[in-house]
Amino acid sequence: MEKFIIQGEVPLKGKIRVKGAKNSALPLMAGCLLTEGKSYLENIPHLTDITVMMKVLEGLGAEVKREDDILEINTAKLSHHEAPYDLVKMMRASILVLGPILARFGYARVPLPGGCNIGARPINLHLEGLKKLGAEIKVKNGYIEARTKRRLKGNSIYLNLPSVGATEDLLLAASLTEGTTLINNASYSPEVIDLINFLKKMGAKIENRGGKLIKVEGVKELRPVSYSIIPDRIEAGTFIMAGIITRGEVTIEGAHIDHLKTPLAKLREMDVKMEITDNEVKIRGESVWKPMKIKTLPYPGFSTDLQPQITTLACLTQGVSAIVETIFKDRFTHISELRKMGADIERKEGMAIVKGVPLLRGTSVVASDIRGGAALILAGLAAKGVTEIHNIYHIDRGYEKIEERLSKLGANILRVEE
Ligand code: UD1
Repeated sequence: MEKFIIQGEVPLKGKIRVKGAKNSALPLMAGCLLTEGKSYLENIPHLTDITVMMKVLEGLGAEVKREDDILEINTAKLSHHEAPYDLVKMMRASILVLGPILARFGYARVPLPGGCNIGARPINLHLEGLKKLGAEIKVKNGYIEARTKRRLKGNSIYLNLPSVGATEDLLLAASLTEGTTLINNASYSPEVIDLINFLKKMGAKIENRGGKLIKVEGVKELRPVSYSIIPDRIEAGTFIMAGIITRGEVTIEGAHIDHLKTPLAKLREMDVKMEITDNEVKIRGESVWKPMKIKTLPYPGFSTDLQPQITTLACLTQGVSAIVETIFKDRFTHISELRKMGADIERKEGMAIVKGVPLLRGTSVVASDIRGGAALILAGLAAKGVTEIHNIYHIDRGYEKIEERLSKLGANILRVEE
């Protein structure tokens, strides 16, 4: 086991480049299962979640090779229709292989997924949607077994919630069905749009009919492609907040500014001084920020994946902030750890009331999920004294070599064996 040791209070200075989006890479990797042959995915970050998905694909018979930021996925010899139990338990996004395997082979067996400790994460919308496309689904002994006698058949599906994962799973399956599928109340996050663009390049017929309605005309087969994924908006947002919280002078390069409109608007409202160009955000050193009201919502609302990080910013401002979490109501594991560092946070159901304090103090804290872990890094960078963060494997799931990249900005952060 490894931990981070951070000596805080160093203003970050310099440039940092955003890597490819984990949450785009994972569904696109699953999407390669829809074709027969070699596909190439570019701009793929080096993360443990990506390694898990590579192994899931290999478990299904795909050959996966990695060279730098490019993945070669060869699906010419897919042999298994059952996803490996241990891997699926490690990462919820592995459920995304269900739609493509079922659509291509008429049978899929996938364990009920595991993942982050951010509260209950049902998959009913994935399963109900696939049933609408004609699948017969049984859940028994911890496995989902889905089958269809003929090809899946297009239908109109309404998602009670605009779930990112369900939209992706259904898009993947619907691309190879017979007939037309309408996904109503779909997510239209940048990662869903990236998946649509990737599938279209493969030959899928998909129309995004104004935001939440997606129309898919199924085709018989799709062709392998080369595709470069979008930059990670959550990583960009995390680095922007690292610049702010250390009162640093940091330029975040290679971000897709359009995908960051809401967090940037919030930060402006908080009086953060920034210069924004086409694909760069510059944080200017004199940042003092005001308290905030945040409510997480489906895209384009404020992302739940940036909630823990902005909660850390709220700890170090004068006044009271209110943070309402509507996507994952229990996504507050970072709060107890921030309190250990001196934060004044009251938790009510689905909500955190944060009273700003003049400083946080370094101590020993534990990461429990990817973004909660990132929030603790931000706290450690700003805190007086030394912060030790344990269980950093959670952070490695979503941030490539974060300590090396922050060190280049002058941060005093080390990875050491426990
Ligand atoms: C994805 C992201 C995750 C992000 C989340 C919300 C990936 C790999 N992960 O997760 O980082 O925090 O979107 O933006 O892309 N729900 C149901 N039934 C379902 C599916 C979801 O009730 O079948 C609920 C969830 O419990 C949650 C809400 O819908 O309350 C949104 O979840 P969803 O958008 O599906 O999140 P994920 O796709 O799992």
